[in-house]
Amino acid sequence: MKDAGQKKILVTGGAGFLGSHLCERLLGEGHDVLCVDNFYTGSKRNVKHLHDSTSFELVRHDITFPLYVEVDEIYNMACPASPVHYQNDPVQTTKVCVHGSINMLGLAKRVKAKILQASTSEVYGDPTVHPQPESYCGTVSPIGPRACYDEGKRCAETLFFDYRRQYNLPIKVARIFNTYGPRMHPDDGRVVSNFIVQALTGKPITMYGDGSQTRSFCYVDDLIEGLTRLMATPDDFTGPVNIGNPAEATILELAEKILAITGSKSELVFRPLPEHDPKRRQPDLTLAREKLGYSPKVGWDEGLEKTAAYFDEILSTGRFDAMRRIHPERRVAT
Ligand SMILES: NC(=O)c1ccc[n+]([C@@H]2O[C@H](COP(=O)([O-])OP(=O)(O)OC[C@H]3O[C@@H](n4cnc5c(N)ncnc54)[C@H](O)[C@@H]3O)[C@@H](O)[C@H]2O)c1
Repeated sequence: MKDAGQKKILVTGGAGFLGSHLCERLLGEGHDVLCVDNFYTGSKRNVKHLHDSTSFELVRHDITFPLYVEVDEIYNMACPASPVHYQNDPVQTTKVCVHGSINMLGLAKRVKAKILQASTSEVYGDPTVHPQPESYCGTVSPIGPRACYDEGKRCAETLFFDYRRQYNLPIKVARIFNTYGPRMHPDDGRVVSNFIVQALTGKPITMYGDGSQTRSFCYVDDLIEGLTRLMATPDDFTGPVNIGNPAEATILELAEKILAITGSKSELVFRPLPEHDPKRRQPDLTLAREKLGYSPKVGWDEGLEKTAAYFDEILSTGRFDAMRRIHPERRVAT
């Protein structure tokens, strides 16, 4: 018999980095989890350990096409998240943000489900306000190489709020700031995974710019805590709400910390900063503290050690090269 508190929850992009941790968390809370993914950047390996649970189901599906299922809640996580992945097929990136959101919002409307959108701090672009509160409207180029993602995610937010205004749909919008942890894609070009892999393999650490640009990094467990807290808020709270960790560090400090944790002797090499790369990024968490009682718990040392241990394990067991190959299931849509 179904437990009164047990819900049927759809996680799109559930085989990705964040999605797989979210599926794990929701199963741990006793819910039925339907993980939907087209394996563009995610992998079955990320959720392999969840298959023993009879409450877990994995379905291959591209959310740019409609989906007909019965669920109580939807976490819309599907979208390639790193620049190297979302710029690989920018038209598909816009499609997953826009068509994907329309399909998931339509599903939520049909089955009267609550729906949460994984938005991003990239909606702030290269910010002129620091740290960024949710009221800041952002500085985004609509025509640059990052626009497929930044503008796609902005349009997705618009769609969520229009479904709220037009159909009174219970929506939640989370603006996720840089998150790291085990199961990050080894080849996604993001700074934490890049530096750790370079340090562990003794290769030079590639620094874009002079390393003085800052980022705030959030450990994955804290982020998932924020998302589940947001989903549990009353229907009159929609967000957008920033979720991340405000502890700010320069990229140079991050590299030095990783060298210390891994005991690596890798040297630092400097390369030009990519176009439209934001110089500073830090969440203002006032709203998250007030509405979600959220504050990140995992500090850099603990988070980076766990992440380095994950990459060390996949490197030493030979899984790393297999994970870096273009996945046979990864398709580029036309
Ligand atoms: N990781 C971060 O730091 C971060 C920061 C801001 C926002 N986000 C957002 O969080 C979400 C998850 O990010 P992540 O870091 O886990 O990225 P990820 O690339 O690891 O996960 C995305 C998942 O979505 C799947 N996917 C992509 N297109 C799809 C489609 N059309 N249909 C079905 N599945 C599809 C991928 O295969 C993958 O499993 C994304 O929406 C991203 O924009 C992440």
